Amino acid sequence: MILITGGAGFIGANFVLDWLAGSQEPVLNLDKLTYAGNLETLASLQGDARHTFVQGDIGDGELVAGLLTRHQPRAIVNFLPP
Ligand SMILES: NC(=O)c1ccc[n+]([C@@H]2O[C@H](COP(=O)([O-])OP(=O)(O)OC[C@H]3O[C@@H](n4cnc5c(N)ncnc54)[C@H](O)[C@@H]3O)[C@@H](O)[C@H]2O)c1
Repeated sequence: MILITGGAGFIGANFVLDWLAGSQEPVLNLDKLTYAGNLETLASLQGDARHTFVQGDIGDGELVAGLLTRHQPRAIVNFLPP
């Protein structure tokens, strides 16, 4: 399991699609869905158990701590804008 932040954005969503095209390792995708987030890009992953989408803010410490505890990702890849 890897955690992607901003995985509904331009670069992040394409990273998720590319990752799952070449790996069975699941992706936990945390994105706030601002104006820049677009779940349509990830429509082909509907029903794919390797992709878990969570709408939320990386600034929400309680949410992030809970996700880290529950899913124990081995890596975090951050695609948020600066
Ligand atoms: N787009 C490019 O051509 C390009 C080129 C080089 C580097 N980059 C870098 O890649 C990264 C991603 O760029 P992008 O174009 O995909 O950005 P984007 O704006 O398309 O996507 C950012 C995503 O982050 C989400 N997001 C924003 N704030 C959030 C928060 N607080 N919590 C959770 N999710 C949040 C948005 O909903 C969106 O889905 C950036 O760091 C950018 O600087 C982009």
